[in-house]
Amino acid sequence: MILIKNIKALVQVRDQGVRYLSGAQMQELPQLENAWLTIENRKISGFGTMDSCPTDGFTEVKDVKGSYVLPTWCDSHTHLVYAGNREKEFDMRLKGASYQEIAEAGGGILNSAKAMGASDITEVYAQAVKRMNAVIKMGTGAIEIKSGYGLTMETERMMLKIAKRFAYDYDIPVRTSFLAAHAVPSGFENSAAYIDHIISDMLPAIAESGLADYIDIFCEDGYFSLEDTDRLLAAGAQYSLRPKIHVNQFTANGGVAMGVKHNALSVDHLEELTEEDIQALKGSETMPVALPGCSLFLGIPYTPARRIIDAGLPLALATDYNPGSAPSGNMNLVVALACSKMKMTPEEAINAATINGAYAMGLETEVGSITVGKRANLIITEPIPSIGYLPYSFGQNHIQEVLISGYSYKPTN
Ligand code: NIG
Ligand code: FE
Repeated sequence: MILIKNIKALVQVRDQGVRYLSGAQMQELPQLENAWLTIENRKISGFGTMDSCPTDGFTEVKDVKGSYVLPTWCDSHTHLVYAGNREKEFDMRLKGASYQEIAEAGGGILNSAKAMGASDITEVYAQAVKRMNAVIKMGTGAIEIKSGYGLTMETERMMLKIAKRFAYDYDIPVRTSFLAAHAVPSGFENSAAYIDHIISDMLPAIAESGLADYIDIFCEDGYFSLEDTDRLLAAGAQYSLRPKIHVNQFTANGGVAMGVKHNALSVDHLEELTEEDIQALKGSETMPVALPGCSLFLGIPYTPARRIIDAGLPLALATDYNPGSAPSGNMNLVVALACSKMKMTPEEAINAATINGAYAMGLETEVGSITVGKRANLIITEPIPSIGYLPYSFGQNHIQEVLISGYSYKPTN
């Protein structure tokens, strides 16, 4: 048994059974000051205040005076498995080209798919390993990873295989989403024809392989229409693949209501958001997810968090880690941006990046809070004055140690 003692405050202490937080609940971030926590069999086995600190029977004792302990970040939206980078497109954008113009000229997602097609599994794996090491070091302890840079059966499968393997390599919960409907590859007349191909030739085998937990689509003008989305999500449901979808990045076109209609676990992006979208989310089990790293990098609007939360809805935060619109997997920065740019309070942002993120990938019983029985995936901060200091001192690393299943995380390369 491992004991962590003299914790300045344990942050995000919850009873089992809290699934996610909505509206005004997001402002509450329960903290236990001057605390201890024990870990047994890779899980949180107990915690309390120092006046009741257990004294013996430990294989390891960590005295973390001045440090906060919080659950690791839950990053519910990434494209972390990709080949190569797109810094040339970054340069083009800085000189005035838009993300959509670059995509229309054959760049963007198709560019990454080309790189994926030219790489073998060992190369792609090696690149993704580096990113996994980096994000865990920055405090991520549960992650969703999408396919979507393959766009063929073989390459999509390869991406999902790598993502699934990370659950074993890193001993953290990994959820995967099948995102063949990310862009229309050449050889298809239009998006509907490619959706036909996905539904009849790819989906059955992917579902059968068990490599995908969720189904995703980029519902957006110039990519996939509302009707494409409707058809694909209905087909996914035949294989019990629940949707987690890209909607409202550039245009609010009804994708949110479409996601809710298909009982999506999450609708992600929402940089554009109408009153109808908010109404559609009310009373649903669908988590809205904001990706402020994408807004920062593309210079597009930030998801209107205040409108969402003040309407009584929940909100999760994720990185969207990908080579085109958010080449960073740093959840600390995401939390800081959510405060500075989206006017979320530190309490709301931390709730959005932990328990709500866990819900957005179906992991809320396993991670996302300090709860007896949950995985001991924990962030131990350096000594800091308050928890709000984390987003306040943006761009700096205040993590002293990351524990995965109770063990200190040491990057493998
Ligand atoms: O979530 N918007 C769609 N997909 C990714 C970006 C893909 C890319 O540009 O490579 C996103 O932003
Ligand atoms: Fe994305």
